[in-house]
Amino acid sequence: MARNKFDVDEKLESPFNIAHLKRAFVYIKRQRNKMIPALVLSATGSVAGLFGPKIMQWTIDNAIPEKNLRLLLWLFIAYIGVTLLNVAFNTVRSRLMSLSAQNIIHDIRGDLFAHLQRLPFSYYDSRPAGKILVRIINYVNSVSDMLSNSLVNMILEILNVLFIIGFMFATSPKMALVTVAGLPVFILVIFLIKPRQRRSWQEASNKNSNYNAYLAESIDGVKVTQLFARQEVNIGIVKRLSEACRRTWLKAIYISNCVWFSSEMLTQIVLTALYVVAVYFMGGGKIAEIGLVVAMGNYLSRFWQPITNLANIYNNFVNNIAYLERIFETMDEPVDIADAPDAAALPALRGGVSFQDVTFSYEPGINILEHLNLEVTPGENIALVGPTGAGKTTVVNLISRFYNLNDGAILLDGEYDIGKATLHSLRSQMGIMLQDSFVFAGTIRDNIRYGRLDATDEEIEEAAKAVRAHDFIMQTEKGYDTEVGERGSGLSGGQRQLLTFARTLVSNPKILILDEATSSIDTKTERLLQEGIRNLTAGRTSFIIAHRLSTIKNCDRILYIGNKQILESGSHEELMEKRGYYYQLYTAQARDQGMAV
Ligand SMILES: Nc1ncnc2c1ncn2[C@@H]1O[C@H](COP(=O)(O)OP(=O)(O)OP(=O)(O)O)[C@@H](O)[C@H]1O
Ligand SMILES: [Mg+2]
Repeated sequence: MARNKFDVDEKLESPFNIAHLKRAFVYIKRQRNKMIPALVLSATGSVAGLFGPKIMQWTIDNAIPEKNLRLLLWLFIAYIGVTLLNVAFNTVRSRLMSLSAQNIIHDIRGDLFAHLQRLPFSYYDSRPAGKILVRIINYVNSVSDMLSNSLVNMILEILNVLFIIGFMFATSPKMALVTVAGLPVFILVIFLIKPRQRRSWQEASNKNSNYNAYLAESIDGVKVTQLFARQEVNIGIVKRLSEACRRTWLKAIYISNCVWFSSEMLTQIVLTALYVVAVYFMGGGKIAEIGLVVAMGNYLSRFWQPITNLANIYNNFVNNIAYLERIFETMDEPVDIADAPDAAALPALRGGVSFQDVTFSYEPGINILEHLNLEVTPGENIALVGPTGAGKTTVVNLISRFYNLNDGAILLDGEYDIGKATLHSLRSQMGIMLQDSFVFAGTIRDNIRYGRLDATDEEIEEAAKAVRAHDFIMQTEKGYDTEVGERGSGLSGGQRQLLTFARTLVSNPKILILDEATSSIDTKTERLLQEGIRNLTAGRTSFIIAHRLSTIKNCDRILYIGNKQILESGSHEELMEKRGYYYQLYTAQARDQGMAV
């Protein structure tokens, strides 16, 4: 699996792909009851606004020369009327569009998060959290604006252009032709710049994503940074990443500005041409009405405005298509670990687990486990021991299907293949305590209740008592209602471990998995805990991983994992007698402890 890091640009799979836009239509369509009225309102408002120059023309060419006060008054009222209509309609439209944009953000965020929650461990193994955050926060905001405002504005501006062309031709076909003549040049410029512009915005967004990834990691690891006095080095890295953002951003802006520059230049050139034509008409004896020239000049400036806007919207599209790609790429990330089409819910399990010729690797070609076979009877207490990195955690993670097997199968109660069971029915019967105890921000009670929201306060307290967490919880300021910070800040390492232990218990699992559940707890508390654990594991299948061998001595069976295999299996006494790997491990530890005492 390819791993991405803060200093590696992410790859975008496809070039500009209209399919992304089509797909985005799903979100747009849901807002049609707001977007269509918005469109109609603003189109009407625009047409009304376009009568403005006409009214001016009539005023200058008819009402004033004829000294027709009545007409002047009516034209004045009409002018105010159309302007008001234009403003009012656009205000309502603004409101409708903000609503649509927020709804789209809300929908995409929801879908993205739901998908992220289902993505397997391997997805998170392979990319920095910061880059995932950027997708949910920045990209979604940016894209939703494009999907709502830009899209409606685009249609509107196209209509505007058509309306204005209509009004111009109705006013003076010759002058209209002069104005429209500049259009092909402008379109040509845009199409020449377009590919470079797209690439430059992608590069900028890549650099920004890298910067975010590093930032997120640095905030997470700030304590280690300060511990090793590495601040200067990190500041240097951030400077470099930030500089890359600045450079690519400026380049992208520069290229985008070329579009703006071209449109400004063209406006001026065409305006000059228009006046030249007007003078020519006047010089030719056919005195063009001044009102007509004023109206045309006005239409002209209005004509280039939507064209410039269209160019900007186009810019916006180019930027955002890259983001849209990222968002859909995330949504398309396969949920490798999902219910099979014919998945069935598991019944209540008895707790038998069998590994049948299981081979597994995280990265292709590097097997962590090979042809592993194991039979565990319901209610059996299994301990897994072995050197660091041997694959103990991997074995227990496979039972809950956090990763798919390369080969072989894992059966529960001798008949249910975990690959064919629904994930919910599988995991809800497992109680897993991960090696890294993760505590969420919130109260102690909420943390213990995390896996079973309907657990009563009594059950929570019972679990906490069983793992000897109750005493320290009662010593905190508000007991079970004490708030802990993100990642459990405010608690000691051992206390965090006890909390996660209680959390695992509350879910009342059929199969209990404890991965180094007591590694951070002092020996005295651990000894007390042992009794609790014995009660808990009685009659329940359990897998206990521990480096401190004294804690697993009494398990029904001890498995020594090494060399991608189970190298030894048996009770403590049997393995000691065998004088193999376990014996060596145990005697070495006993000796060390003997010396320490
Ligand atoms: N997400 C992962 N991606 C790739 N390789 C991994 C991943 N997790 C673990 N490994 C590798 O798999 C091997 C087994 O890891 P595992 O965590 O199962 O070891 P362990 O026996 O639990 O070790 P420890 O006693 O230190 O907890 C290690 O060599 C490790 O480098
Ligand atoms: Mg481990």
